[in-house]
Amino acid sequence: MTEEIVILDFGSQYTQVIARRIRECSVYSTILKYDTSAKEIAKRNPAGLILSGGPSSVYAADAPIPDPAIFNLGIPILGVCFGIQLFAHFLRGKVERGQRREYGKGTLKVKDRACALFTGLPGKLQVWNSHADKLTKLPRGFQPVAVTENSDYAAIENRAKKFFGLQFHPEVAHTPRGRHIIRNFVHRICGCGRTWTMKSYAHQAIETIRETVGSERVILGLSGGVDSSVAAALLHRALGDQLTCIFVNNGLLRAREEEVVQEVFGRNFKVKLQYEDASNLFLNRLKGVTDPERKRKIIGRTFIEVFQAATRRAGKARFLAQGTLYPDVIESVPIAGNPAALIKSHHNVGGLPKKMKFELVEPLKCLFKDEVRRLGLELGLPNEIVFRQPFPGPGLAVRILGEVTPSRCAILRNADAIVVDEIKKSGWYYKIWQSFAVLLPVRSVGVMGDERTYDYTIALRAVESQDGMTADWVRLPYELLEKLSNRIINEVSGVNRVCLDISSKPPATIEWE
Ligand code: XMP
Repeated sequence: MTEEIVILDFGSQYTQVIARRIRECSVYSTILKYDTSAKEIAKRNPAGLILSGGPSSVYAADAPIPDPAIFNLGIPILGVCFGIQLFAHFLRGKVERGQRREYGKGTLKVKDRACALFTGLPGKLQVWNSHADKLTKLPRGFQPVAVTENSDYAAIENRAKKFFGLQFHPEVAHTPRGRHIIRNFVHRICGCGRTWTMKSYAHQAIETIRETVGSERVILGLSGGVDSSVAAALLHRALGDQLTCIFVNNGLLRAREEEVVQEVFGRNFKVKLQYEDASNLFLNRLKGVTDPERKRKIIGRTFIEVFQAATRRAGKARFLAQGTLYPDVIESVPIAGNPAALIKSHHNVGGLPKKMKFELVEPLKCLFKDEVRRLGLELGLPNEIVFRQPFPGPGLAVRILGEVTPSRCAILRNADAIVVDEIKKSGWYYKIWQSFAVLLPVRSVGVMGDERTYDYTIALRAVESQDGMTADWVRLPYELLEKLSNRIINEVSGVNRVCLDISSKPPATIEWE
């Protein structure tokens, strides 16, 4: 049986990070909304509970308050930051607004070395704080464990009940030994083994898919991106020929994309693959269109139309599978002033009209992106698919400024293939979020041999990012830029100039349209 740690989300921007840290200990973790009843939580039989941080003060009128019965579940509880205030609120401690906000690096001194949270750790630790309110009176049954310059109660413990409170954030990278603290909590204190592995997950997921689907048929839209590819491999392992994957060529794909997908899924995996070449339809509808929003709308609508027609041709199916990930389904806690509530994840789910009467299968919906990648490897997908950089649904259209024409697509596809090739050869491809070419259809003068040219410009865009929400441009070495520029200008006819995009997001976006 999979052991589980439940995290109650009080609106911290770090809640998902806590979940990942626990999973990195090979223990399954679930994020639930702060007001989930103790009864609901008990039903899951978790090995421990974590109360996340949050932006609120426990005394604020709209403070997120949990079911008080969670303190009677008889399981270990770790309260992080705002979580420590909750102990105080419910167990007769006291919280006061600090003289000054404690924000940033601090040094933690562990006074009580017998506390199991700090087993194996030195007496002094660097930690990351981010709070204004602080504990001034210990809650009932608690002892102080560690202090910082600013707080006598930076870590507290009720040893009999196995309740722990931390004023700092153990989950963030700025608390370098924080993983060790979390490991101590899940293994030593909650007694969890290492039961959450991709092998065990794959096994369980396959069983669940078989139970849900029975002998019915499933359709999956395969884009060639990481998520839909891993979903395809998993569903195929579970269902074999009951699965049909539909791959739509919208005429806006990268070089060899349709070949790679057909090679990997059709020929290697023997997935039933329905290839829909709709490139002419898409390109015809994009004729003369220059407005970026209109381009996207046309592409989105046409995709739905083509996909719907394709599902009809695929024959009767009861289920539609989607590669939805965990960050897409976690309900963010809507608290005033909560930045996490505003930082919405990009996702590609939805879009398909309700009248498509399918039941949904979402086999990746409890996984984070890095876990999806590990699952892909477990299922035998090649690195080329598992570690590929994100590619937008509207494809090259958002990288061709102005009108999208077949000849401009060809130019960009050739330039992009060179970028991918050189970035891969240099070892940068897997280190950065995205690297690609953009076609600027403004003509400038050049000379080639004795000839005067009047050709287009390619902009190079390479960015690093955690999640696509913010990004910085990558300082690629000059030698690599030189090679890219030389090859693009020499090998791609129609281009006589290459520039480098050195804008960060915000204020620029990653894609140009
Ligand atoms: P922007 O350009 O908004 O992009 O900074 C952020 C991330 O999202 C990708 N992106 C898309 N992905 N459909 C997608 O599937 C889209 O319409 C779309 N637009 C942007 C982009 O490549 C980057 O990784």
